[in-house]
Amino acid sequence: MNIKVVKGSTLKIKGDCVALWCFEKEVLNPAIKQTDKQLAGMVRQLVKEKVFEGKLNQTTFIYSLGKLNVDKVILIGLGKKKEMTLDKLRQASATITKIAEGKGIKKLITNMPDMKIKGMAAIDIGQTIAEGAILSLYKFNQYKSEKNNYEKKLSELTLLTENEKNIKTLKSGVSIAKKISAAVYFTRDLINHPGNTATPTYLAEQARKMAKQCNIKCKILNKPDMEKMGMGALLGVAKGSHQPPKFIILEYWGTKKNKAPVVLVGKGLTFDTGGISIKPSNGMEEMKTDMSGGAGMMGAIMATASLKLPVNVVTLVPATENMPGGSAIKPGDVLKTMSGKTIEVLNTDAEGRLILADALTYAEKYKPKVVIDMATLTGACVIALGHHATGLLGTDEKLIDAVKKAGEATGERLWQFPLWEEYDEMIKSDIADVKNIGGRGAGTITAAGLLKKFASEYPWAHLDIAGTAWTGKPKPYVPKGAVGIGVRLIVQYLRSLF
Ligand code: BES
Ligand code: MN
Ligand code: ZN
Repeated sequence: MNIKVVKGSTLKIKGDCVALWCFEKEVLNPAIKQTDKQLAGMVRQLVKEKVFEGKLNQTTFIYSLGKLNVDKVILIGLGKKKEMTLDKLRQASATITKIAEGKGIKKLITNMPDMKIKGMAAIDIGQTIAEGAILSLYKFNQYKSEKNNYEKKLSELTLLTENEKNIKTLKSGVSIAKKISAAVYFTRDLINHPGNTATPTYLAEQARKMAKQCNIKCKILNKPDMEKMGMGALLGVAKGSHQPPKFIILEYWGTKKNKAPVVLVGKGLTFDTGGISIKPSNGMEEMKTDMSGGAGMMGAIMATASLKLPVNVVTLVPATENMPGGSAIKPGDVLKTMSGKTIEVLNTDAEGRLILADALTYAEKYKPKVVIDMATLTGACVIALGHHATGLLGTDEKLIDAVKKAGEATGERLWQFPLWEEYDEMIKSDIADVKNIGGRGAGTITAAGLLKKFASEYPWAHLDIAGTAWTGKPKPYVPKGAVGIGVRLIVQYLRSLF
């Protein structure tokens, strides 16, 4: 979709369809009032009869029947003005885009919503509207033979502003949105691909291809490299599978090389059967998404590089399947990690923390400024937070606060769990340094507690995205399936550093 920023007014512009914004109970704002005059009071009537009140994502579709320069009008509600956030604007933008697409509209025009709201700069408004529009149109249809359904293409969105001075800023906002959204698409694709396509080898190939396009350095470690480095935890998980594991390293040097990088670690479990501690078959297909953390951190570095942010960023993705093959690790096995510490594996389905342990140790090589890892780590996190928040834990309150703030700004919200040392008791092993499960309670915390043992050399935050990586219900800017969670969040965090 092409996005244009143009000086003009919604009343004068000619076209297919125009979308007009309003706050709840303030439907008849100047732009809509003028339009309503030409529509002989139709909007006023809709408001009077409470058919349309401007609630968040509420819309109404009007045929102008020759009374306006445009054929159709969409009214879109933003909810209460006092409760306005950029995320609500993103949702509303997505809502009108989806409606326009559904009605077969090719070119959609919209004015800039009147948002003299604290903390909302024109550049953010431009970015947010464009993001909502682009992200809402994401499709994953590569495995469908019939593609006809998808040919109804909305090809153009025009943002109108009456203020000449805004044009440049809005355009930069749109340009930022395009780069970030391309990375979210990249991440969503990786996750939506089934496990028989998206193997560790495929992830590595895609990483390499993306790196080439984005001025990122890429290195892939293979099994012999991992053996040399003593990555016994990652290799242990990979043992049950015929697919060779890969360790993906992406480096983006956006500023002086002597500046410590932000290291991003993502779980790249391309299919999690549970291993010998096998999962129930019902719903197991969702475990193709167990590489969402890795895909998200790959998307995050992709966006960072295309935005040319002046930071150094490294992404590490330990990638493997978790399968119950003949050579698979068994409950009770002890693995020796790259750090030298040993882990007793009491449940082979708690594999994410094992592969992350080695990746967190590998991260030390970079003497990182901070390390953030992201993983679909625990079902317990879904029980605790449902699908509306990512679990957040870590060892550095300043980092945690900065990540939380980025979550508020992007709508990818986080909720912190404690990581008190009292919980360490729960993962004490009788025979090894630590065990990989902690009993019934506090599953999200004990998983992070294991990671903490391998993340001691730098400030560290951990994001548990088990509940937020995948959605069974479409949302305005997230179709059913992969969310692409974390990409916008991490980019926002990195932008907040300077
Ligand atoms: N990948 C799963 C966690 C998960 C569950 C992600 C649901 C997305 C949705 C992880 O590897 C896992 O299986 N965790 C176990 C740990 C348990 C055995 C201690 C879990 O949460 O059940
Ligand atoms: Mn598992
Ligand atoms: Zn898993």
